[in-house]
Amino acid sequence: MKPALENQVAFITGGGSGLGAAAARRLAADGVLVAVNDLDLNAAEKVANEVGGIAYAFDVTDSQTFSSAVDDCVKKLGRLDIMVNNAGIAPQDTASKTDLMIENVTKRMAGEIDQMNPMNYLRDLTDENWDRMIKVHLYGAFYGCRAALTHMQPQRSGRIINISSVLGLYPAAGAPHYSVAKAGIITLTKAVAAEVAPLGINVNAICPGYIRTPLLTPFSETMMAGITMRIGKGRLGEPNELADMIRFLSGPESEYCTGDVFNVSGGYTG
Ligand SMILES: NC(=O)c1ccc[n+]([C@@H]2O[C@H](COP(=O)([O-])OP(=O)(O)OC[C@H]3O[C@@H](n4cnc5c(N)ncnc54)[C@H](O)[C@@H]3O)[C@@H](O)[C@H]2O)c1
Repeated sequence: MKPALENQVAFITGGGSGLGAAAARRLAADGVLVAVNDLDLNAAEKVANEVGGIAYAFDVTDSQTFSSAVDDCVKKLGRLDIMVNNAGIAPQDTASKTDLMIENVTKRMAGEIDQMNPMNYLRDLTDENWDRMIKVHLYGAFYGCRAALTHMQPQRSGRIINISSVLGLYPAAGAPHYSVAKAGIITLTKAVAAEVAPLGINVNAICPGYIRTPLLTPFSETMMAGITMRIGKGRLGEPNELADMIRFLSGPESEYCTGDVFNVSGGYTG
């Protein structure tokens, strides 16, 4: 039998690791030719070689290089059907505040709210950290949507999948910049979807909950235990569980979905 998405072409940012790599494997298994971007050339090449695709090493915050790479991909592979804007970074330095957080939770449980110490997540955030977080996620998704539309509009078909987060829906105190960027991606998705729906292009966002990838490395064991307690399923998600949603949004099964937001969170409630 012919693979379901034979000869379609996908461009996946941040595809050298975690969710992006799982998406590359999942799409390739259904016949998609995959271009794998990452900051890390070795990681991108490793995944690209594994799935018979091509690799592009660049920073998604560099809009010109981003557009040129997508143009080059279309030149080499003939078209662009699926754009997955997935590259992302985690909020840094959350682990160092674990002890203070636990102290505060204990005080809160004892009704000693006035004894709680300031966490200073926002006050300790530097201009550079704020800028980088917004740039990688929100600007990266904008550049990716724009580069994809250059090729999808003349085709009058295409799927753009933007990776947001449950923190875009339920903002977290420890990650204001990440939450803002991910909420922005949801709004960007809806605005672009409304514009290009008549052109046969679907644009959707996925909000993953906590998925087992290297992105979670900065979280301490205690923080992960606290997070897992708020996941209905009582466990982290696996990258392939997210990749199945990317596959759904890439194929004909999701024809009527656009401007929509899909959680894959195991019942995380914030
Ligand atoms: N893992 C989770 O629990 C989780 C939850 C919600 C959302 N997400 C989102 O999913 C996406 C993928 O994350 P992941 O968990 O697979 O993480 P990951 O760290 O395994 O992979 C992210 C990849 O993106 C690449 N990258 C980072 N900045 C880049 C840039 N500027 N340009 C190009 N590539 C860049 C990294 O090199 C890395 O290979 C991110 O947008 C993340 O915010 C992840």
